[in-house]
Amino acid sequence: MVKLTINDRPVEMPEGRTILEACRELGIEVPTLCYHPALKPYGACRLCMVEVANPPRPPRLVASCVYPCEEGAIVQTESEAARRSRRMTAELLMAAAGDSPEIRSLAERLGVTQVRFRLPEENTCVLCGLCVRACAEIVGVSAIGIIERGISKKVSAPFQIASSRCIGCGTCVLICPTGAFQFEEIAGFHNVEPAWEGYRRGYYRVSGELDFRPDFVQDVFSLLRSQSGLDERQE
Ligand code: SF4
Ligand code: FES
Repeated sequence: MVKLTINDRPVEMPEGRTILEACRELGIEVPTLCYHPALKPYGACRLCMVEVANPPRPPRLVASCVYPCEEGAIVQTESEAARRSRRMTAELLMAAAGDSPEIRSLAERLGVTQVRFRLPEENTCVLCGLCVRACAEIVGVSAIGIIERGISKKVSAPFQIASSRCIGCGTCVLICPTGAFQFEEIAGFHNVEPAWEGYRRGYYRVSGELDFRPDFVQDVFSLLRSQSGLDERQE
């Protein structure tokens, strides 16, 4: 067990417990976006920042969802620095995906009243990584991942083409906090694809009904054509 202080309250926590988990256990609210109790923590959104001091180390801001409880640490979840940092993050999230009810409600709760930033393109994905982790850790398929770096970073299927591993379960659609994915049914096939422009149509797609084998089809439209007796070579 490690002994620490959270919001002036001395507590003992098992080794390896994160500050966020400890706070939740104590009923202390810390806002989160990329955290999900069923998934490994990722530390992407920075909404869960809290201030941690461990003398003689001075206070600093850490992402509580990935930071473990430390012996002797003094944690303040509502310090001015922590609140300011969370407000700034929420404002940036609003600039990226201000139409998302989840982001709006987070920003409202954190007291964000104006958005001073504009992004050149709005694609609604805030790179929280929930979809990618859910696909890998819950569905066990890993049909999508985060590709490229810096401002080009994005969620994609390998090579940005229709994923032969996607089973069309829609877990990414359900877990995404910004509505960045669309789910549609085309003639009994499930098609999952990013909602924003600039991607090749339908790079995640596949069926729920005919065949769940991971490699069964790359392209739902050629499958439909072959089912209706139309061979691609005849077109
Ligand atoms: S698509 Fe949605 S769930 Fe996936 S990283 Fe972007 S915002 Fe997060
Ligand atoms: S919830 Fe901790 S960084 Fe996103």
